[in-house]
Amino acid sequence: SRKIGGKKEKTLALIKPDAVTKMGSIIEAVLDSGFVISKAKMVLLSRTEAIDFYNEHHSKSFFSDLISFMTSGPIFAMEVVGDEAVSSWRKLLGPTNSSIARSELPQSIRARFGTDGTKNAAHGSDSISSAARELEFFFPSSGGRSPKNTAKFTDC
Ligand code: PPS
Repeated sequence: SRKIGGKKEKTLALIKPDAVTKMGSIIEAVLDSGFVISKAKMVLLSRTEAIDFYNEHHSKSFFSDLISFMTSGPIFAMEVVGDEAVSSWRKLLGPTNSSIARSELPQSIRARFGTDGTKNAAHGSDSISSAARELEFFFPSSGGRSPKNTAKFTDC
């Protein structure tokens, strides 16, 4: 009885340190929008890991602020599955800067749960290829060191 929609995709969603206290409401918004959360875990990134994850932005003016912020506390990483999940999740996030999001898309996640251009509540992969890389970063498929992280949604 599922609605027929676009192509099924996976994306990486992160709840950033500023919004972890509101993760219940954010997860509710994810599920209410029809996504499935197929993997999830709390992570405290080291500086090295954060620099690796955001390497494409290393020359940007905001890079050091971004790394400091993303290592300032735990984050909640989710593998999110749904119809055109990469673009759909980005749409639900709203504009990057939460102040702008509040004027342009007040129902968006960043409008509702973020603060400004740094503290913007959540992340979403920007393409199918970055989703693949970012999901592998947080939920590595090889190595087998964390069997409890490899359960498929259908096993639950
Ligand atoms: S760009 O230049 O268009 O590629 O950058 P953008 O997509 O807007 O942002 C890339 C990520 O950097 C974060 N960002 C910032 N962090 C801290 N401070 C400032 N000023 C800032 N500006 C942008 C932004 O939230 C994006 O992070 P993710 O995790 O991908 O959402």
